[in-house]
Amino acid sequence: MPKTILITGGAGFIGSHCAALLLREGYAVRALDNLDAQIHGHERRPPAYLDRRVELITGDIRSPQTVRRALADVDAVIHLAARVGVGQSMYEVADYTDVNARGTAILLEAMVERTKERPFSRLVVASSMSVYGEGLYRSSDGTVMSLVERDAGRLKSGLWEPIGDDGQALQPLATPETKTLSMGSVYALSKYDQERLCLLVGGAYDIPTVALRFFNVYGPNQALSNPYTGVLAIFGARLLNERPPLIFEDGEQSRDFVYVSDIAEACRLSLTADAAVGRALNIGSGRRVTIKQVARALAGALCVSIEPEIIGECRMGDVRHCFPDISEARAALGYQPQVSFDEGIGKLVDWLDGRVAIDRVSEALAALSSRGLTV
Ligand code: UD1
Repeated sequence: MPKTILITGGAGFIGSHCAALLLREGYAVRALDNLDAQIHGHERRPPAYLDRRVELITGDIRSPQTVRRALADVDAVIHLAARVGVGQSMYEVADYTDVNARGTAILLEAMVERTKERPFSRLVVASSMSVYGEGLYRSSDGTVMSLVERDAGRLKSGLWEPIGDDGQALQPLATPETKTLSMGSVYALSKYDQERLCLLVGGAYDIPTVALRFFNVYGPNQALSNPYTGVLAIFGARLLNERPPLIFEDGEQSRDFVYVSDIAEACRLSLTADAAVGRALNIGSGRRVTIKQVARALAGALCVSIEPEIIGECRMGDVRHCFPDISEARAALGYQPQVSFDEGIGKLVDWLDGRVAIDRVSEALAALSSRGLTV
């Protein structure tokens, strides 16, 4: 009998890639997904990209009855169901908190109940780099700084780089899991809730649990018409509509973009790697790129000569630099990112080719600035 894995949020971007990989590796896959209209459109049909062999249960993670049904006979759970969008979380506060934190609590209560009859071999939960806030920095005198925040007054003057006490710009460093956490948005706080709830309840009830702190994930199946999604899908939607990508700040802010198949592999490895149990691990590509580089690389790969537009505003809660030290994941999981940034952009562009995207970026920006959520 193949092992059966339940993926919550299994019809989503990351979930669909996990499902495809697990099926290839001989697992059976069940997905629990509410087919959220913001991602799947108002018809809320199962997405065409989802492998037909996935048993899809359409329902809400906050429904104890549905969750109990989804858990029946599964060996392990990969918990990806969440509302995702930093800006939107700052005004849909109750809903983000409810789906992400209470939804996880309901899943855990149902898992605890089920362990009495049959234990789970694993719970893998998707946490996020957002729990760090700003990444790690070093000041000009060599001091490593773990809790950097940007000053609102400086941001208002277009001074984007965080500075040290001596007024000098700080040097960004790769962020390890030990960095002091600093949640700067409702989304970040709700991801932290998910991470801790799973590790804490998992630890108390002998459900071997692994939390993965994903960095900026991109690739095929990312919702192109969702303006709250990741920057690469947003830039893709803009360029497909022959509009310039809108760059916040000055475009020199940096991230680590990790291709979605590497994320799926990290989830797969977490199902069996015992050294990862009880821990929260960074999952990234190991390479840092600026947002300006991202916009140019995507336009170049799409063969369009549309220069990005630097709007010189900042989203409240955005961090300047955050990219991971992935050595713990390499050691504990045997994780080894396979897809380079250039290769990943190429694959993304192959997928974008011929696609229709509704560009709602201006609407989303207006929603933020009307609430005073841009600087
Ligand atoms: C955030 C979360 C991350 C989460 C992801 C989901 C933080 C620190 N990180 O990442 O955990 O998984 O959202 O989407 O909260 N940008 C533009 N123009 C745009 C859109 C974005 O310039 O149209 C810039 C942003 O200002 C930011 C960078 O691109 O500097 C990346 O933005 P985004 O893709 O939204 O991800 P993060 O905010 O890094």
